[in-house]
Amino acid sequence: MSDAKTVKLVDESSKTQSEMPLISGTLGPACVDIGTLYKDTGYFTYDPGYGSTASTKSAITYIDGDKGVLLYRGYPIEQLAEKSNFLETSYLLLNGELPNKTQFASFEHDITHHTMMHENLKFFLRGFNHDAHPMAMLAGSIASLSAFYHDKLDVDNPEDRKLAAIRLIAKMPTIAAAVHRRSVGWPVRYPRNNLEYVTRFLHMMFEVPSEPLELNPVAAKALDLLFILHADHEQNASTSTVRLVGSTGANPYASIAAGITALWGPAHGGANEAVLKQLEEIGSPDNVETAVKRAKDKNDSFRLMGFGHRVYKNFDPRAKIIREMCHKVLNELGVKDPLLDVALKLEEAALKDEYFVERKLYPNVDFYSGLIYKALGIPTEMFTVMFAIARTSGWIAHWIEQHETPGSRIGRPRQIYTGADVRDYVGADKR
Ligand code: ACO
Repeated sequence: MSDAKTVKLVDESSKTQSEMPLISGTLGPACVDIGTLYKDTGYFTYDPGYGSTASTKSAITYIDGDKGVLLYRGYPIEQLAEKSNFLETSYLLLNGELPNKTQFASFEHDITHHTMMHENLKFFLRGFNHDAHPMAMLAGSIASLSAFYHDKLDVDNPEDRKLAAIRLIAKMPTIAAAVHRRSVGWPVRYPRNNLEYVTRFLHMMFEVPSEPLELNPVAAKALDLLFILHADHEQNASTSTVRLVGSTGANPYASIAAGITALWGPAHGGANEAVLKQLEEIGSPDNVETAVKRAKDKNDSFRLMGFGHRVYKNFDPRAKIIREMCHKVLNELGVKDPLLDVALKLEEAALKDEYFVERKLYPNVDFYSGLIYKALGIPTEMFTVMFAIARTSGWIAHWIEQHETPGSRIGRPRQIYTGADVRDYVGADKR
């Protein structure tokens, strides 16, 4: 939507002024449309980290960071967490509406019948050392899908785009489980299509040929919830990466593989692994005070992992839900994890510490998710892989939205050049 309102930019040096239109969405602050700024004024804008810059219009997810609101296609995350399931939420993200029973059955059928990974992927995975990080294996494997499915890669064809979305959501758990089994030296477990999405994944992760798997339904429920909460988060670093790569016309598997690598960093999805490692390092509630002190020390690079968020400056609504689930899961699975005591003490100490209060640093989604993954028996190095399985729905929904939006252009930021001024080449003998 374009408002009638404009914003005036006055250039005191040249005594000129230009007018730029304001654009409003359904919710959220209006944006100054600076698309013609360079043409009109000769200036670029500077916003490293994109703190004030909208890179796209999107109808998928809305966040109000000050109020702690997260909506998928208009539905509050709290309601989806309570009433929906991951596959239904994925349908919602992809299609814009909740499915009726027939639509859901058809979607679930499509997903269920694309769960197998190409047999040659097993050999591809064998090429990795057993101690390779699972995120490295996942990124490589997902990129390799464009080699396996190159017959259906026309990014301008809606049918090919839809098929890629189905394949990615369906195969991601199969490949993630295969990655885990490569790490521990177990044979790849094929998907059992009589199970639903999350339970099927847990079977592929943990079932061994020698005995049946006794799965507590609490485990599947908890993981399904975590997947819903991680499914999308508008223009975060990995989704923006998927869109930037997608803007070049790159195929969906290449675009999502790029998203996976962006997710890996500890400032983003890698935080869940980093949180657990940090809680282990802190070791005991008695050491929390020292950890908080270190986190505040500007001469120390130590940060409290799982605290802070670029957008949420009140609380992360997902963290609230996960916190509750964490207690429930540990109770119902009968897991006594001393790290929970460390986490609770850390949360309490940070929430009343002036440094954290002033900077509005609250526990984020990944502060508690690691404790749940750990209780489910998922190894620490697989935590970010879990995040990637869930976020695949959001990534591919954004990739499709981008391709359905008329007039999309290649993403190409500008820069402020700070290097040497123009100078003449000097021969090696004169240097
Ligand atoms: N511990 C200690 N201090 C922190 C932390 C932290 N976790 N996070 C931010 N700060 C401080 C910064 O040092 C800075 O202080 P200053 O104003 O005195 O210089 C201030 O708070 C603002 O921090 P920025 O880094 O500018 O905030 P930004 O929005 O760029 O970063 C981020 C957000 C990356 C999430 C950051 O808070 C962080 O590194 N947190 C820890 C990692 C983490 O949990 N990441 C997961 C995010 S959620 C997700 O991606 C799924």
